[in-house]
Amino acid sequence: MATCGVYWQPERFQQALQTRYLGRAWRYVPELDSTNTALRLWAEEGAPEGALVVADYQRAGRGRLGRSWLASPGRNVLASVLLRPAPVPPGWYALACGLAVAEAIEGQVPGHEVRLKWPNDVWLNGRKVAGVLIESSGACLIAGIGVNVNEEAFPQELAWRATSLYCETGRWIERELLLAALLGRLEFWWEALTQGQPEALRRAYEARMALLGTWAWIQRLPEQAPQEGLLLGLAPDGALRIRTRADEQISVYAAEVTIGGSGYVAHCGYR
Ligand code: BTN
Repeated sequence: MATCGVYWQPERFQQALQTRYLGRAWRYVPELDSTNTALRLWAEEGAPEGALVVADYQRAGRGRLGRSWLASPGRNVLASVLLRPAPVPPGWYALACGLAVAEAIEGQVPGHEVRLKWPNDVWLNGRKVAGVLIESSGACLIAGIGVNVNEEAFPQELAWRATSLYCETGRWIERELLLAALLGRLEFWWEALTQGQPEALRRAYEARMALLGTWAWIQRLPEQAPQEGLLLGLAPDGALRIRTRADEQISVYAAEVTIGGSGYVAHCGYR
């Protein structure tokens, strides 16, 4: 490995994993382009539901909205898991993944503030610590999860909006335990979606939502002008509820939410 990270410890992960099916079949690849791509190829060869690909380093990690996801070797969670679609609107998938990541992070850093920026950015003490990229693969979904775990520092231009568990606590965190816990929470929430019961998820998600009561910019499409909205919460169908400047309450199903004059777009793992 290029820098002073450590290799993934499969036995440590295996010991900690308490799921029924998520992560039970797994492949660890020290270095690859993207865990999402590797899992897609495995899915085409017949990977089972819950299959997991985990890596120490990605040469071409992808983020949402066509961005890159950069993370230094051996220090972070870079993982993708294969899920079967649940009988709920697809918007719920990102929310379930984001919530599972947030809960698992909180388990490792109790007492720190872990929040969700709709739809699925995870913030630790006000800075982005993790993101989720959901892609479809045939009849299945690939949930790609990146968590900044033991990243020690971020370049100046990112430092005000990106963080890691290590940066916040000064402690080296075992990535294997974090991922095992994360898959446990994801299995729990996926079960709720599979049973067509997202209400508990909605409440748990809303309780962790960042920026509630804040005016933000809502950008639905890249070519459209952003609209200002007061963030109110999560609607029963998982949409973001906002109040417009014209005092209308509306639901937003897909958008980028930013705050600040130049746009607060938290999107990078590292660099
Ligand atoms: C975001 O933009 O916030 C989503 C980032 C998702 C990054 C993860 S890292 C593991 C998986 N493989 C990828 O190429 N991307 C996702």
